[in-house]
Amino acid sequence: MTNIKWDSKNYASNFSFVHEYGQEVVNLLDVTEGMTVVDLGCGNGQLTKKLSDMGTKAIGVDASEDMLVLARKSYPKLEFINSDATSFTVGENVDAIFSNAVFHWIDNQDDLIANIAKQLKEGGQLVCEFGGYGNTELVQASLEREFQSRGLHYRRNFYFSTIGEYAFKLEKHGLLVKYATLFERPTKQIGEDGLANWIHMFNLLPFQGVEETVQEEIIQSVVEELRPVLYKEGNWYLDYVRIRIKAIK
Ligand code: BEZ
Repeated sequence: MTNIKWDSKNYASNFSFVHEYGQEVVNLLDVTEGMTVVDLGCGNGQLTKKLSDMGTKAIGVDASEDMLVLARKSYPKLEFINSDATSFTVGENVDAIFSNAVFHWIDNQDDLIANIAKQLKEGGQLVCEFGGYGNTELVQASLEREFQSRGLHYRRNFYFSTIGEYAFKLEKHGLLVKYATLFERPTKQIGEDGLANWIHMFNLLPFQGVEETVQEEIIQSVVEELRPVLYKEGNWYLDYVRIRIKAIK
């Protein structure tokens, strides 16, 4: 069981900001015509298409078949592979691995980075962005309080790294960090139900086995607790923090 069931329709209607923000990350890649790039955790393939439009041979890799069905339908000329980030291979070593908003979902970071290092050519680039240290801390802490006040355990399921911790891991696997930044990026969730929708979409696991009425009570309490801080003029602005890194093998 993962912390999310990727629902491609819900994603497209409410969470397209994920790949929209990814456009900026793409600009960190040094691109040469025809270079091979894996879009790791490509989801609906929108950034794979962007990479392809920049003149690369882009290959999308994702663990969710539901998202890949949509990606293949939208971009039939592109190659998409259903595989886990910790074990994927595309049959040859690649010039670059790109990833947006994926690594914080992955439990085994050492397996992930070892596989990235293995799949890159010598001199190959890793360009990635994901949730950094402190990401959605107000939401996580509020959920934790609401679970605990009902005698329930709230498990934090995401990996939100500091720069130092991640640089150390990358260097251990032979990837030299050339650029790293950690920054706050308040992230808009549309409408009155924006925060509740976000919790329903992205934070499934802690609610497993919790009665549905209690689940809704918890979410409503979190919404009311955070409304004065995160709700402005009809929309929610979640306390996202991003870590953005470029490293070379
Ligand atoms: C993120 O992209 O930072 C994120 C998304 C869902 C849950 C937690 C973090």
